[in-house]
Amino acid sequence: MVIVTIDGPAGAGKSTVAKLLARELNFQYLDTGAMYRALVFSAIQRKIDFSDPESLVKNSHSVNLRLESEKVIIDGVDVSTEIRLPEIAKYIRFVADNELIREHLVNMQRQIAAHDNFVCEGRDQGTVAFPDSQCKIFLTASSTERAIRRQRDLANKGIVMEVDEIKKDQDERDQQDYNRKVGKLIKADDAIEVITDGLSLQEVVETLTRLVNQKSSANNF
Ligand code: DC
Repeated sequence: MVIVTIDGPAGAGKSTVAKLLARELNFQYLDTGAMYRALVFSAIQRKIDFSDPESLVKNSHSVNLRLESEKVIIDGVDVSTEIRLPEIAKYIRFVADNELIREHLVNMQRQIAAHDNFVCEGRDQGTVAFPDSQCKIFLTASSTERAIRRQRDLANKGIVMEVDEIKKDQDERDQQDYNRKVGKLIKADDAIEVITDGLSLQEVVETLTRLVNQKSSANNF
């Protein structure tokens, strides 16, 4: 099976790009951030105390989490929209910094991607989940560009936020992502960095498609 990993900071456009790249390559798409978000959502719903790591771990095992094409289903309910609300990001670190929860989700990610070709997107896909991936991409953009893009995405969902406010949340998440003990955001040694400032979505997808094709002809996959 071929795994293309896309890691990078929040707001770099990974999800949109990964989805389109997967379509272009005729691969499946795995949004691992959605898994962390879904666990936060279910913990809020089940009124779990976020300062109690053991309960969070138990919850991560008891919840029925499924990813169906681009939908996120928890205990039979489609929560794809709810998990994107800004409130979810506030609690992410309690789940994403928990080593046992990360281990559980990485195992799930490996199982999901075991039987098909996948584009897997997140923070630790090329480093922890799929260190043997044939093609690793580190997708990034400047902090301002990422915040402006996030503002546009939120506006499309009817959520109005100032760029400065978004940047503040984003800086906080960057700090968490770059500094967590396990699964921290770091470019894998063999990842190709793509900086998307000033590039259109189509240009980014074309660049990545070209990179995957180059890797695939060089390494025969
Ligand atoms: O990609 P995203 O913003 O939807 O991800 C939500 C959060 O989940 C993000 O703040 C960091 C965390 N995350 C992670 O720790 N590891 C991953 N592989 C994917 C996401």
